[in-house]
Amino acid sequence: MTSLSANSVFKKLPAGDFRARCQALCESLRALNPAYDWIGLYWVEGADLVLGPWSGDQATGHVRIPISQGICGAAVREAQTIIVDDVQSDPRYLACFTQTRSEIVVPIYADGLIVGEIDIDGKQIGEFDKSDQKFLEELAALIGREWPGRW
Ligand code: SME
Repeated sequence: MTSLSANSVFKKLPAGDFRARCQALCESLRALNPAYDWIGLYWVEGADLVLGPWSGDQATGHVRIPISQGICGAAVREAQTIIVDDVQSDPRYLACFTQTRSEIVVPIYADGLIVGEIDIDGKQIGEFDKSDQKFLEELAALIGREWPGRW
């Protein structure tokens, strides 16, 4: 659950370079909402998703995920936000961190195409709800507007 406003979070990012802004976004999301335990942006590259900026206690081994796999891949294939209340009961789940219990993945669109996604892991079952979905979809739209065409 969140009461954050996408516009106000986005407004506070440093001006300039898209990569630096995306990195700052991951870090500020984690600072603003401790329920966002691990946050990463993946970018579509051919048939894969490639990890860009992220913020969390640990690095993930999933730096390249085929779009055919994972909850990350499913969000692109289905072209919609996916909320998984309990990752252990979802056969699509690609495990990263032992503490992860739930996950939300939100596609990022630019010019009508999915160019990437926001991936967030939570430590509680059912950590994410419609308020997170709305907030993160608004954020994804703001990111998509700045998408420079390639990562
Ligand atoms: N759990 C994701 C993989 C990425 S990690 O959470 C960072 C998935 O099932 O696609």
